[in-house]
Amino acid sequence: MSEHLTVVDHPLVQHKLTLMRDKGTSTAVFRQLLREITLLLAYEVTRELKLTTRHIETPMEEMDAPILAGKKLALVSILRAGNGMLDGVLELVPSARVGFVGLYRDEETLKPVQYYFKAPEGLKDRLVIAVDPMLATGNSSAAAIDLLKEAGATDIRFLCLLAAPEGVARMKEAHPDVNIVTASLDRELNSKGYIMPGLGDAGDRMFGTK
Ligand code: URA
Repeated sequence: MSEHLTVVDHPLVQHKLTLMRDKGTSTAVFRQLLREITLLLAYEVTRELKLTTRHIETPMEEMDAPILAGKKLALVSILRAGNGMLDGVLELVPSARVGFVGLYRDEETLKPVQYYFKAPEGLKDRLVIAVDPMLATGNSSAAAIDLLKEAGATDIRFLCLLAAPEGVARMKEAHPDVNIVTASLDRELNSKGYIMPGLGDAGDRMFGTK
């Protein structure tokens, strides 16, 4: 696997993903599983966070103990499905700052259209984790990363649940510096831009809109 893409093959991640793919899984369970699986993926995507040391006293003696260095990380949800991944990351990193990028996919052209952007201050000094469950064509993901870079971000990771080879290739071409962490690299996109075998429309499944 290239540095650019990390597929988390932990058995708990794969088990939960299978339950999420199953079309018989209810909205409530789907959302709960997404929160749980995101927490496990967040563990992987934060693996290289920088550490410094703090001098502390344990009940036994003094020590220089490791502690996170630098500014709090910024978590950016690509609306609307990205919101389903916020809680899982925030459970692991409760002090993260949170931003939102609103893009919708034009169903004709499959191109992203921006309608909202709000990011935490000081992006250039933070690790920025952009979250969106489905890396499909990669067009909206690449556009979201463009906006984050324009806002100053320099150290960005992309966290998703499923990735299509087409989306990974598009991201690699547009943003080779942005590492992707996912639970699965699926087979392909269908003619409508859906991931196969996939799990359907992630937003609809988590919010019960269909
Ligand atoms: N967005 C989704 O929600 N599902 C797909 O399969 C592709 C894009």
